[in-house]
Amino acid sequence: MSKIASHITIAMDGPAGSGKSTVARRIAEKLGMLYLDSGAMYRAVTLLALENGVEEDITKLIDLVKQCIIEFDDNGKKIFLDSVDVSEEIRTPEVNKLVADIAKIPEIRHEIVKHQQRIGAKGNIIAEGRDLTTIVFPDADYKFYLDASIRERAKRRYADLQEQNVKTTIDAVEAEIAARDEKDTSREHSPLQIADDAIRVDTTGKTIDEVIDIIVGHINT
Ligand code: CDP
Repeated sequence: MSKIASHITIAMDGPAGSGKSTVARRIAEKLGMLYLDSGAMYRAVTLLALENGVEEDITKLIDLVKQCIIEFDDNGKKIFLDSVDVSEEIRTPEVNKLVADIAKIPEIRHEIVKHQQRIGAKGNIIAEGRDLTTIVFPDADYKFYLDASIRERAKRRYADLQEQNVKTTIDAVEAEIAARDEKDTSREHSPLQIADDAIRVDTTGKTIDEVIDIIVGHINT
């Protein structure tokens, strides 16, 4: 390792269902690092928009975002919006459907990225999302891009939704993540892309443990 573990920054990007969240969370536990779920922050802002009925009123939404307080607890497992635990509410189908449209607004990204950079300023962090390797932590010590076939990603997300008792089908989930992939990769500001210096890991057919081993293997060399 080039630096001691307590100072390194690991950034990870990839599309929905590529395994980033589970892998990043487990690596954070294994290496004693802070875990940052950047998507949860865009989801919290989307919930803020829905709760206040301002999803069409971007100016009002930007004002609300500037005033709101987003905090994590339990090493990134729980997220609080203005002191209210919204960890479950941010994963509903309504939020899934709207989040990519809210996340493309540059002023909102600006606020959220500032917050993420403050959280990561001291290092010892593993952060995942869509623009962590390119915009938020361009100088990260290690960068990874996780991917998998769309069918496999849909199956994984479908299994998560089954656990939450959400009634849906694999085809519907596949359509939802395909629509989100399209929005996230084609947007003007901070689109999802593979950073030149990122290591690409195809997680199709791999278990979580196999992916963790691949990533930790790179970190230890
Ligand atoms: O877990 P999943 O991949 O479904 O999504 P997420 O990581 O919770 O992110 C939800 C959405 O937030 C993404 O589809 C993006 O539209 C947006 N996002 C973003 O724009 N930039 C990030 N760094 C993270 C998420």
